[in-house]
Amino acid sequence: MDYDRTVLVTGGSGFIGSHLVCSLVNTHPDWRVINLDNLEYCCSPRSLESIEDRTNYTFIRGDVCNSQLVNHIFNTEHIDVIFHLAAKTHVESSFECPTSFQRVNITGTGVLLGAAHQARHQPQCFIYVSTDEVYGPSLDEVFDESSPVRPSNPYSATKAAAEYLVRSYWDKYKFPIIITRSNNIYGPRQYTEKVQEKPNSLHLVSAPLCCSTIQGTLPISRHFLFVDDAINAFLLVLEKGTVGEIYNMGASCEIPIRQLARELVKMVKNVPDSEVNNWLEFVPDRPQVDLRYPIKCEKLQQLGWRAEVSWAEGIRQTVKWYRDNLDFWSEADEDQGQIGSQLERATAK
Ligand SMILES: NC(=O)c1ccc[n+]([C@@H]2O[C@H](COP(=O)([O-])OP(=O)(O)OC[C@H]3O[C@@H](n4cnc5c(N)ncnc54)[C@H](O)[C@@H]3O)[C@@H](O)[C@H]2O)c1
Repeated sequence: MDYDRTVLVTGGSGFIGSHLVCSLVNTHPDWRVINLDNLEYCCSPRSLESIEDRTNYTFIRGDVCNSQLVNHIFNTEHIDVIFHLAAKTHVESSFECPTSFQRVNITGTGVLLGAAHQARHQPQCFIYVSTDEVYGPSLDEVFDESSPVRPSNPYSATKAAAEYLVRSYWDKYKFPIIITRSNNIYGPRQYTEKVQEKPNSLHLVSAPLCCSTIQGTLPISRHFLFVDDAINAFLLVLEKGTVGEIYNMGASCEIPIRQLARELVKMVKNVPDSEVNNWLEFVPDRPQVDLRYPIKCEKLQQLGWRAEVSWAEGIRQTVKWYRDNLDFWSEADEDQGQIGSQLERATAK
């Protein structure tokens, strides 16, 4: 079958990527969707089981830093659109192992850009999924897309460096890129580092929202965007965004982490106020913790986007999903060893 568009999603087996891939495959049967992912520990094959047999979906297990593989994909697959999400994303780990973050987040982005730019079939749009963390912390300032970039941890520094690489292809070649900078995204299927250690529903739900443990005494707060609203924003940016531009992507809902933790304890454990502290764990701050990242999203709103899922509804859906899927990641290691890619084997010869 001839497809109207071929879309490459990198990191399509991760939390946001799997929602994006499912949405693209389901809503655009006339588009072919290729997912390039090396299946890091955060992935479960179950994230994509609803679409894995669909004819317009192809999975390639591989590393975005593997230039031979990435060049092969671009030279054989006629890629029209790239959503580049593959990254190392865990902020605390980025302090422990910054070089692996540099390799995947910066070098990987460079490999992808080089291959996309040199491909015989020229892509229409390369969307780089970045983060509000590139702005660094703020007390009073609300960041818009022209605010200075001041990342304050190795993760956000690598995302900012990759943004500069992406922008350089626009500046030098007018290669059609778009950058998105989003708030914390939450929802079903987000991996938590705590799964194996503390397999109970409170930790499963709260860790991705960064509040299973309360770090230090600082008044940390975050804006949270439900994953369905984020996916709608990515698709809108693809259709209506202007190439060469950056789009902030955020929710108005700012929640102090302590309040969030207390709300989750009450919701998941169904305990009175007086017992909430029994379920919270207080630990020292990470080496550098940013208090808040408020952003303005007027550019995105001018394209017609609004967050539609309220915090109350989003957290209700998320809590329910984690309650119903306590064993979601338990089989991941065994299954992933068996998922191969003919393409990667072909290019490894
Ligand atoms: N989760 C958030 O709140 C949030 C907010 C803003 C931006 N982002 C960005 O969105 C993107 C996706 O985030 P997520 O939360 O879904 O993360 P995630 O960790 O769930 O997914 C990352 C995916 O990238 C894959 N990957 C990692 N290294 C790879 C490599 N070398 N080659 C191929 N694939 C590789 C992993 O296997 C995984 O599937 C990231 O770029 C992140 O910086 C996330």
